[in-house]
Amino acid sequence: MGSQERSKKNFHLWKKAILHFLICFVMGFFTGFAPISKPTGFSSHITVSPSTSYSPQLIELDVTGPTAGHNHSTETAVIEEEEEQEEEEKRDQREDSNQTKLLILITPISTRNKIRNALVTRLANTLKLVAKPLLWIVVEQQFDDDFEVSEILRKTGIMYRHVVSKGNFTDVDSETDHHRNLALIHIEQHRLSGIVHFVGLSNVYDLSFFDEIRTIETFGTWPVAKVYANKEEVRIEGPVCDSSEVVGWHLKRMRNMTETRPPLIHISSFAFNSSILWDPERWGRTSSLQDASQNSVKFVRDEVVEEETSLKGIPAQGCSKVLLWVSEG
Ligand SMILES: *[C@@H]1O[C@H](CO)[C@@H](O)[C@H](O)[C@H]1NC(C)=O
Ligand SMILES: *[C@@H]1O[C@H](CO)[C@@H](O)[C@H](O)[C@H]1NC(C)=O
Ligand SMILES: *[C@@H]1O[C@H](CO)[C@@H](O)[C@H](O)[C@H]1NC(C)=O
Ligand SMILES: *[C@@H]1O[C@H](CO)[C@@H](O)[C@H](O)[C@H]1NC(C)=O
Ligand SMILES: *[C@@H]1O[C@H](CO)[C@@H](O)[C@H](O)[C@H]1NC(C)=O
Repeated sequence: MGSQERSKKNFHLWKKAILHFLICFVMGFFTGFAPISKPTGFSSHITVSPSTSYSPQLIELDVTGPTAGHNHSTETAVIEEEEEQEEEEKRDQREDSNQTKLLILITPISTRNKIRNALVTRLANTLKLVAKPLLWIVVEQQFDDDFEVSEILRKTGIMYRHVVSKGNFTDVDSETDHHRNLALIHIEQHRLSGIVHFVGLSNVYDLSFFDEIRTIETFGTWPVAKVYANKEEVRIEGPVCDSSEVVGWHLKRMRNMTETRPPLIHISSFAFNSSILWDPERWGRTSSLQDASQNSVKFVRDEVVEEETSLKGIPAQGCSKVLLWVSEG
């Protein structure tokens, strides 16, 4: 057999092999293709991105304002939510009981805050880095022509609810308080189960903070650093702990020393298990939050300071680390 003939044979073998390969490849390709060749198969791939599958749901809630001094009787809150993600969340919770706890973060936004868009964006960038599941409840008073916050929220990829209040407020404090109460009512009505924390729009977090508060069973508290940017000053306020047991408080000195009320803990200095909102009897409350005379923010705030047995100091090493800075102007 001449070398020319051998190479010819080799060439034939190669041609055969390549042909086989091509046939197998083409068949394999089409076989693999067949089950998803229906249009629905394709669309399920495309809709993975939340921005294209997003369909805002508007739900109207009749809410009677719990704070006194305003006429909220005609108020409605419009809630916009990421429906699909929420369902996914519930499924996850059912499937895995060891799953990390849901964090429910409440942020009231005042329309008087001129830099709110920048602050919402900055806070969203922090929350994006937090392990899921996380639900961000943003509450603001909305005017018909102002959808900027909605647009920012929609782009974040964070699971959120946008609660809109239509109240008319005389000052920022009552507006903020009212908004926090609306969020708590929302949690109660939907029986959301998780750890609730009030996040101020200008709060700055060490990311380990969010892991720490997931260890809370009922109530938890931690020191906050109050930053007075104008005075270039920082003050630490919060619990004094023996490992994770709270043994005292460093709080702002009360003006009236004969005052018998418990001292007021900073609104961002505690977190609690949301079940206390829908289990009023267990917590010695006379009525549901939806009772207009109740100020649930105040209730929870007082409860934390008075609670002794189920209050956890964070971090567990004697509350010795500041993981959160709050802005005090
Ligand atoms: C509060 O709203 C109700 C219902 O619209 C109205 O009847 C009432 O006059 C209002 N009260 C005040 C003080 O504006
Ligand atoms: C759940 O957690 C417990 C204790 O942390 C562990 O023993 C168990 O294996 C975990 N179960 C699953 C399904 O991960
Ligand atoms: C809110 O109250 C102010 C004055 O109290 C009034 O001028 C304004 O029209 C009110 N806005 C709404 C939306 O009711
Ligand atoms: C909240 O407390 C209830 C009752 O003690 C408990 O069953 C539940 O697991 C707690 N939830 C979280 C998120 O820790
Ligand atoms: C301090 O509080 C007590 C009881 O709340 C009150 O009777 C008293 O007038 C207050 N004193 C001042 C100086 O505000």
